[in-house]
Amino acid sequence: MDVYGLIGNPVGHSLSPPMHEAGYEALGIDAKYVTFEPAADEGAVAVEAADRLGVAGLNVTIPFKQDVLDAVSLDPLAERIGAVNTIDFDGGTPTGYNTDAVGAVRALEHHGIELSGTAVVVGAGGAGRAVAFGLADEGMTVRIANRTEWKARDLAAEVPDASGHGLDGLDELLADADVLVNCTSVGMDEDETPVPAGGLHGGLAVLDAVYSPLETRLLRDAAAVGATTVDGAWMLLYQGVEAFERWTGENAPIDPMNDALRAGL
Ligand code: ATR
Repeated sequence: MDVYGLIGNPVGHSLSPPMHEAGYEALGIDAKYVTFEPAADEGAVAVEAADRLGVAGLNVTIPFKQDVLDAVSLDPLAERIGAVNTIDFDGGTPTGYNTDAVGAVRALEHHGIELSGTAVVVGAGGAGRAVAFGLADEGMTVRIANRTEWKARDLAAEVPDASGHGLDGLDELLADADVLVNCTSVGMDEDETPVPAGGLHGGLAVLDAVYSPLETRLLRDAAAVGATTVDGAWMLLYQGVEAFERWTGENAPIDPMNDALRAGL
């Protein structure tokens, strides 16, 4: 039996175990997915321990996504993003990937959204970095808007064909944009939005990385003007799907994994 897992602190509310195990069950894979909660300064030690114990793959979440960078050999995209959320122990050296970027891309593609033209990414933290690189790699022009403007500008300097902005000019940034992704925590368990409703329009596809609640105020406002909306559970699903496929080498069974995830939300 293969053992996969997640390190984070805290990990108590993670939906990854039911999501991945639904995938193993659907494909008849003999595997378990367990959560580990190392002390906050022991992320790299935990990776080494997991390797020695024969764990086949690890997901990595807050606060360890940067801490484990030195404990693995880095996939080029994870290196550019500067954060690892998936480790594959197969074949000697543990390799660190970042599936958050591809997770956002695949969540949008699942909804038939064409990834060309211009994207506005709101937020320049960990999620914002991953999504900005992911969309730029698809060939989109990326406008990064962040409350702390210099962080958006710094990130934009690293991402191909990107520009950095504050939140003040969002209406203008959105006017001719095709895709909007909220990568801030605004809207999480609160009826707030980082994007004033007046800037939204029917030509946008809007993905909210926030998944609690599933229907955030941003997505409600977006639906009201006829925009295509994609909730944050799709991004969560596809970062897991991408990890599942790297580890198992199989196409992930999307429907059972999605059902298991949404049952827990
Ligand atoms: P994550 O890894 O989820 O991206 P993070 O790295 O802590 O988390 O980043 C949080 C993001 O949400 C940042 O872009 C942050 O903006 P700042 O860089 O200005 O801090 C953004 N954010 C958090 N609270 C916010 C608020 N009330 N209004 C606007 N942006 C907010």
